[in-house]
Amino acid sequence: MPFATDAELDLFFPPALISEEVKKQLHETLHIRPLAATDYHRGYLDVLKVLTVVSDPGETAFVAQFNAMRSAPHTYYPLVIVDRASDRIVAVGCVFVERKFLRGLGSVGHIEDIAVDKSQQGKKLGLRVIQALTYISENSGCYKTILNCSNENIPFYQKCGFETKENEMAKYA
Ligand code: ACO
Repeated sequence: MPFATDAELDLFFPPALISEEVKKQLHETLHIRPLAATDYHRGYLDVLKVLTVVSDPGETAFVAQFNAMRSAPHTYYPLVIVDRASDRIVAVGCVFVERKFLRGLGSVGHIEDIAVDKSQQGKKLGLRVIQALTYISENSGCYKTILNCSNENIPFYQKCGFETKENEMAKYA
């Protein structure tokens, strides 16, 4: 597929919300933008597979999920890094903005589902995704940005400016 520009795509959120500083720091062969409705065809789910089990829901269900999530305004901000030459996705991440009644009706940004294609790891793409998501979180007025990760990823998040705080609890259905 030839590289699709932002203007040609049905994007999840306005691309202007992505940090210009992060865009400048990316190699010219790469582009960072919001998730697009057609990213099912650019390997979005394949990149997520480096993180966890991902079943293929088919394009119709993918687009339905995209639209359902987008119908909650100012809440989900999924973004991708695309290789311009192949128009394939090489890194993904999302921040979810949770509105609260405490802290003066404050909001918290939850960083979720960070993944970099195996062949592209170690090239600062994970760092750029986290910087772009934190920028969105902070510009959305979030008083903090948080995430859960494995012990082995703690050094990566420390490099991104995060610190260990409290514990994660989980109860799987
Ligand atoms: N241990 C120690 N240091 C690390 C690690 C690690 N596991 N991973 C990255 N770093 C360091 C790098 O060396 C680099 O340091 P430097 O600035 O001194 O050179 C810095 O962190 C930035 O690393 P990046 O190159 O940006 O890392 P990368 O692009 O490979 O992305 C990621 C890191 C996202 C963890 C990637 O390896 C990946 O996709 N892993 C599999 C999926 C995964 O575990 N995702 C995170 C789940 S947690 C969540 O989603 C909230």
